[in-house]
Amino acid sequence: MKIDIISVVPDLLQGPFAHSILKRAKDKGLLEVNVINLRDYTTYARAQVDDYAFGGGAGMVMMIEPLVNAIESLQKETSYDEVIFLTPDGKTLNQKMANSLSLKNNLLMICGHYKGIDQRFRDHFITSEISIGDYVLSGGELAAAVLTDAIGRLIPGVLNDETSALTDSFQDNLLAPPVYTRPEEFRGWKVPDVLMSGNHKLIDEWRHEQSVQRTKEKRPDLLEE
Ligand code: ADE
Repeated sequence: MKIDIISVVPDLLQGPFAHSILKRAKDKGLLEVNVINLRDYTTYARAQVDDYAFGGGAGMVMMIEPLVNAIESLQKETSYDEVIFLTPDGKTLNQKMANSLSLKNNLLMICGHYKGIDQRFRDHFITSEISIGDYVLSGGELAAAVLTDAIGRLIPGVLNDETSALTDSFQDNLLAPPVYTRPEEFRGWKVPDVLMSGNHKLIDEWRHEQSVQRTKEKRPDLLEE
């Protein structure tokens, strides 16, 4: 899979993909992430990419021309399955959306800044608008990093144990059960006996019960979906 990300602060995206699972995905050739600097595509002086909002009001708006120059240049090389705009007024990201995006080949993500991007770009080029939650970030970069991480780890072959994404929280609309590791007892706090029993059927049943109980307690809304 290839993910191209257009940003006015490309440096913000240098760290997140250089470590851990996403780095492994890149090293294995399963995921390619390219960060594109929007300022390379502006024809305005001093690499300007934003301007005052027509009609007045506080805050700058990202101009359509640099965005169109960038996307049309990238589209000469790549046919994108989705052109995603990260924005607080988009559809809230969930596991189902990440699952379905992980099956695509080429994604383009656009990071907004300032008061947003010219609506005409949204109308004519964006195929999907995604928010990572009901709060406002100073730009779309961290949201793009979150989305890339959520998608990247689902690409077949990225996780060592192929089943581990299937047992994540939110797959099946259930939260994951509690987990324990060595030591078996710490300050008198013991690991549940069933996990030490070696009986995998019992362990699976216990984990499922714990998942249901946790979900009822912490996220009853998931059980209603
Ligand atoms: N840009 C600013 N805030 C955002 C959010 N919550 N989700 C996605 N993109 C954003």
